[in-house]
Amino acid sequence: MPVLIFATHNPHKLQEVQSVLPASIRLLSLQDVGYKENIPEPYDTLEENSRVKALTIYEALQRDCFAEDSGLEVPALNGAPGARSARFAGDHASDAENLALLLSRMEGISRREARFRTVITLIWQGKLHQVEGICEGTIATAPRGKGGFGYDPVFIPEGSQQTFAEMSLDEKNQFSHRAKAIRAFCDLVYRLTAESDSR
Ligand code: IMP
Repeated sequence: MPVLIFATHNPHKLQEVQSVLPASIRLLSLQDVGYKENIPEPYDTLEENSRVKALTIYEALQRDCFAEDSGLEVPALNGAPGARSARFAGDHASDAENLALLLSRMEGISRREARFRTVITLIWQGKLHQVEGICEGTIATAPRGKGGFGYDPVFIPEGSQQTFAEMSLDEKNQFSHRAKAIRAFCDLVYRLTAESDSR
């Protein structure tokens, strides 16, 4: 059975990933392995941040592990907030402050398309692999709904009239970037497991 360390200190994410992963993949948290250090996210791209998070844990523990990084990309804002989504309005900004800044930057802009993207980096038997999940959509002119987190109240995924914040978690998972990335990640783990079993 593959045993993987998830390089996050966020218990919410751990739970979300665990709920999508099949029981045949065993997940360990950083708490399970006693890792307490901060994990850096110093770069401007999701690919680099996801990679450095996975490498940080691999270098410290020398064990199979993975990390994820997600963000909202708005073409009319040249791809912002992107890898800075959590810190758009400042290093310690709240979700509400980030969302308010996004709406103010989008004021008067009619091109409202956007996408959420998740990049997962897996380090498996010393080799690095990346998969992504994308959810295309548009930015509403005002927040709607009480569920979810981050930019959910203003993001309307393609194929729906509702914002993510107006959906249940199950409904959101039918569209979400993170759910798609986790599915691609599961396929990758199955493929790698099958390949090493056949050797
Ligand atoms: P993370 O890399 O998954 O921690 O995501 C970084 C930031 O992107 C979050 O703090 C949110 O601001 C934003 N974000 C990522 N995924 C979502 C989502 O599913 N809904 C709303 N905001 C999100």
